[in-house]
Amino acid sequence: MIMMPDGIVKIHSRMPWHSCCEVRVMQLHDILLLRTSAILPASYIHNFGIMYAVLIKERSTKILRPIEKLIEKRKEEFIRNNLMSDEFIDFIQQNKKPMDKLLSYYACAIMEVETKFRVLDHQYSLEYDRNPIEDIKSRVKSWESLIKKVRRKEIPLTLSSIEESIHDIAGVRVVCSFPDDIYMLADCLLNQDDITLIEKKDYIKNPKPGGYRSLHLIISVPIFLQDEKRMVTVEVQLRTIAMDFWASLEHKIRYKKNIPEDKALYLQNEMLECAEISADLDRRMQNVRDVISKNVPKEEKIPFLGEMI
Ligand code: GTP
Ligand code: MG
Repeated sequence: MIMMPDGIVKIHSRMPWHSCCEVRVMQLHDILLLRTSAILPASYIHNFGIMYAVLIKERSTKILRPIEKLIEKRKEEFIRNNLMSDEFIDFIQQNKKPMDKLLSYYACAIMEVETKFRVLDHQYSLEYDRNPIEDIKSRVKSWESLIKKVRRKEIPLTLSSIEESIHDIAGVRVVCSFPDDIYMLADCLLNQDDITLIEKKDYIKNPKPGGYRSLHLIISVPIFLQDEKRMVTVEVQLRTIAMDFWASLEHKIRYKKNIPEDKALYLQNEMLECAEISADLDRRMQNVRDVISKNVPKEEKIPFLGEMI
């Protein structure tokens, strides 16, 4: 390691760069978020087989912006030049059609799961006169983030290992009205005889240290094709409007660049406090609904204006 002016350190790396660069770009992201140490490595930049680590001293804000711009530029160059490596291009060329086919199975599985939730919502509205689901947002993981994850988790670049090891290629996010609705919908889904639960993470009962709350289910669902039945894995995230509001804004802020170090701790504390406020809001709303629904018998409910006309 050679120390150079302006806090730049040159590291001679014997590791083949393509085996570690992706990991390091991922580290760059984490490190940018953890600006609490006195000196911190902000990036590893590949340059003709030599790794450069750019170190930013805590108070050297003058060099912070240009260096971060440089890092951003290099990161983009890295993704453009190296994510599209020969290995990756070969993989695409050999697997383009099968990969598109595989991704289309995930899109079909999303349709199946979405339909199950819509059916439950519809039935519930007929039975209880209200909709437990506010919104459903789904997505198939993009090629770019799929390949990034394959590299980050060091998964072999084959279709079968991707299918086996990555469980969030298909994602369905169900936004509910009240916390109880989350568990009611999760139970209804898991009781269906074609659904297999692979993993359950309850970040509502056990929120993440940063304050994140949601119920995550990794499930396997069958899709019926022309001449075969396939089991496909889907990640279902169930959360209330308040949990979704917090997670969406936290995600935006977390990925915002140039957060000065002195504000990082403030941000962390504020996010945690906002998460607690929003959890409290959920509890109170749930309570109001429970009180109201217990005190007003179904048959005496005041009809909606639309029903009276
Ligand atoms: P990965 O799937 O590799 O990300 O790891 P994991 O399976 O351990 O992650 P986890 O199941 O805890 O979370 C997966 C997804 O939940 C993420 O892709 C986000 O959509 C969401 N998530 C988890 N933690 C947070 C958080 O702190 N903030 C926000 N906004 N979203 C989160
Ligand atoms: Mg996951």
